[in-house]
Amino acid sequence: MSYYSRIIGTGKGLPETVMTNKDFESFIDTSDEWIRTRTGISERRIANYEKGETTLSLSRLAALQAIEKAGISPQDLGLIIVGSVTPESVMPTTANSLQRDLGAVNAFSFDLQAACSGFLYGLSIADQYIRSGTIKTALVVGAETLSTLVNWQDRSTCILFGDGAGAAVLTRSEDKTHAILSTRLYSDGTRGDLLKVSHGYAACPPWRADYRPSEHKIQMQGSDIFKLAVRNMVEASNKVLEDNQLTIKDVDFFIFHQANIRIIEMCAKTLNVPLEKTWINVDKYGNTSAATLPICLDEAWRANAIKPGDKVLMATFGGGITWGATLIQL
Ligand code: UT7
Repeated sequence: MSYYSRIIGTGKGLPETVMTNKDFESFIDTSDEWIRTRTGISERRIANYEKGETTLSLSRLAALQAIEKAGISPQDLGLIIVGSVTPESVMPTTANSLQRDLGAVNAFSFDLQAACSGFLYGLSIADQYIRSGTIKTALVVGAETLSTLVNWQDRSTCILFGDGAGAAVLTRSEDKTHAILSTRLYSDGTRGDLLKVSHGYAACPPWRADYRPSEHKIQMQGSDIFKLAVRNMVEASNKVLEDNQLTIKDVDFFIFHQANIRIIEMCAKTLNVPLEKTWINVDKYGNTSAATLPICLDEAWRANAIKPGDKVLMATFGGGITWGATLIQL
């Protein structure tokens, strides 16, 4: 008997507070016009810690929606994965705290760090566990509060990121057509310096004399990352198509990592995909890292931009560097 994974529910969780481009003008040398034309971002959501908005609370919102849409109970979950570079705490993991909050007593759970690719990495791991027959149903979450990790004085990065979470429930199916058809994941640690958070962990813990709080923030070589993001997402997309002997024309809908509208437009143009066949929300949420793909998937599904039977290609690119693509049929 061969098993496959079918996505049966999705959800999202966003903070209430909206931060507009104009809000940055009071403390860094920037403008709404620059941010909109260079990135496509108009606003982003920022978690309010005082109101209890954290990586965990956003994960919970997304997870509960996904579980409800899937029509399962938390006890049906055998696995919970949270992809995040801004976990609630290192120990317990965000996934363990989520497991507690959901009452998902039959699930084992862990966090994974693959930067913006965290959701796709998690989806692929859950898919492997389901296909091997080890578990039946999994919850995969991409969740970030990047507002805690940006340098608010660095105008080239702080305007890019936002907070949010997205989630998907996958379950075992014997139908290989309505399933995750294939996934390709990639890493290149030799280019890790292009987008990094270098201090604050084992290489330079906070108690060391040379620890600098400003290095415990996101640092990025923007234009190098930009070019790699386009090239790698295009290559990964072509690979998953090849794996399935399909062409771009066979795919109904595309979801690219939401980092910059110009990256999305260049990926679409290079692959010959009309923008109407993609979901874009970078204007509203900025780059929410591991959360961008599941938030898009959820919004596109609930808006009927995608429907059961559609083939959807998702591609991602993240710091460290990591990237990948997956092709699913809903
Ligand atoms: O999720 C992981 C993936 N992340 C990404 O994919 C992000 C990829 N990179 C980008 O999106 C773009 O590289 C940025 C949006 C970060 C920057 O856009 P750019 O067109 O590559 O600009 P640039 O870095 O070449 O900078 C052009 C100018 C510079 O000024 P000078 O040196 O020409 O005088 C920057 O200092 O724009 C300046 N600049 C700004 N000006 C106003 C940089 N940030 C800002 C800002 N407001 N916020």
